Amino acid sequence: MDKRTKITADYVGIDLGTSSSALAIVRENGLPEIVPNADGERLTPSIVFFDEHEDVKLVGSAAKTAGDPANTVHYIKRHMDDPDYTVEIAGEEWTPAEISALILAKLKKDCSRLIGDIEDVVIAVPANFNELARSATEAAAKMAGLNAVRLVNEPTAAALYYAHTQGIQGRVMVYDLGGGTLDITVMEIVDDRIDILLSEGATHLGGFDFDATITDLLMKAYREQKGRNLQFSEYHERNMLVLSEETKKVLSKLNRVTESVGTKKNGIADIEITREDFEAATRRLITRTIMLVEQALKAIGATVDDIDDVLLVGGSTRIPMVVETLTEQFGKKPVSCGNVDECVALGAALYAHQSLQVSEVCNHSYGTLALIEDAVTGEVKVQNSIVIPKNTPIPCSMSQTYVTSEENEKYIEVEITQGEDKDPRYVDIVGTIVLEVPEGRAAGCEVTVTYSYDENQRVQAEIYDAESGLSYKIDIEYQGRGVLTDADVERKSAYLKKVRVA
Ligand SMILES: Nc1ncnc2c1ncn2[C@@H]1O[C@H](COP(=O)(O)OP(=O)(O)OP(=O)(O)O)[C@@H](O)[C@H]1O
Ligand SMILES: [Mg+2]
Repeated sequence: MDKRTKITADYVGIDLGTSSSALAIVRENGLPEIVPNADGERLTPSIVFFDEHEDVKLVGSAAKTAGDPANTVHYIKRHMDDPDYTVEIAGEEWTPAEISALILAKLKKDCSRLIGDIEDVVIAVPANFNELARSATEAAAKMAGLNAVRLVNEPTAAALYYAHTQGIQGRVMVYDLGGGTLDITVMEIVDDRIDILLSEGATHLGGFDFDATITDLLMKAYREQKGRNLQFSEYHERNMLVLSEETKKVLSKLNRVTESVGTKKNGIADIEITREDFEAATRRLITRTIMLVEQALKAIGATVDDIDDVLLVGGSTRIPMVVETLTEQFGKKPVSCGNVDECVALGAALYAHQSLQVSEVCNHSYGTLALIEDAVTGEVKVQNSIVIPKNTPIPCSMSQTYVTSEENEKYIEVEITQGEDKDPRYVDIVGTIVLEVPEGRAAGCEVTVTYSYDENQRVQAEIYDAESGLSYKIDIEYQGRGVLTDADVERKSAYLKKVRVA
């Protein structure tokens, strides 16, 4: 008889991270746990190596240094919101969703060895992922033969794990410093309910920047010792980054570490780096994270005293200076669950399992393009007029009334924007509503635009024309550039089914 506690494969959570990914399940006893990959690791580096000789895509640790760096893809998550981004490997173009699908396919395959095949999963995404990045994540899941039943925001998943395992309650700040991004979220946890108050993020600030600083320190020391620069091939550069990351991790535990740097041909130097050197060189990065913390507190009119606990999430919060700086800032130690790089996946699995009440906030502002007079210059120009501001609690419904500027209009067209900027060039158009109106209208008719944002982060837009009494409502499905159609996804899934992932 099978003595193992039955695993309920219905409850699977995935953290598809910038630098590493993880898959967790919830057992029948209600406890979540990480399912290790076939390489025996709890975290799978989000790295894909395309082997030219064998028809296999390597995902994970083996891909780190397996071969030609030109055929190795890292940090693909940073491009999930870019409709034009592709990676060219051996003459073939790969989109960020397709690369992510390979990572997900490895997680699915390895997990199925232990618990049988899985299909329905909850995938965690950064709170500030836009519609394109969210739809690319869903498409990646489909291509990998998974069904992303829900997307959960990463800080929400992490907080759920803390609430579940450490009984954390009250007003908390989740400080998530991962491989590529920093996310700050303030929320209120009361029993089984989580209310998000605000989410802010810096998309290009994470462990990678700390690694790059170590590389600089090693190169500088090499130059001082040898009197010449370290010469780099692409292979060396890649190996240097791997070495820098390892050095950084050792410095989280020890005060000094010595590394051999260089090549036989150019000469090898043994270089000592102390934690003090590392801290001096990376203080500016940590200061940037604190600025975002202060900005987040200011935005909700709170001070550090209003925060009951700071919860650490992300592998980079193991850096001692992060903990020290937050302790100084808040006057008390932040809380760490230890497995800071696993808690998002574990929380996503709990989210799949529990009927939790989460009230999120809008991740982006929604608005429309309108002719607006500049208060200073008096110039009238097309601007982005915000209807629902970012960080408004959802579900919500908000309206703005505009007046038409032209006579004899046959159609009223409302372009729906996503983004905070006033300048139309810096916002995304995520949909358009067109309302046909009776002929012979004068200018100056009132038109009301209403946006409703539901719990599933779906947006509906309605336009109401007071003159004719006509109205029209649509669901905003992001249809902007870069979104894959169902047919695209089907085709890619069929293709990816034949690809061998290891
Ligand atoms: N002991 C350690 N000391 C310092 N940094 C560490 C340590 N362990 C892991 N890290 C760093 O944590 C980062 C990865 O963290 P994590 O797995 O949480 O990120 P991610 O979820 O992939 O990224 P993101 O959240 O940005 O999408 C890497 O930069 C890694 O080097
Ligand atoms: Mg993460």
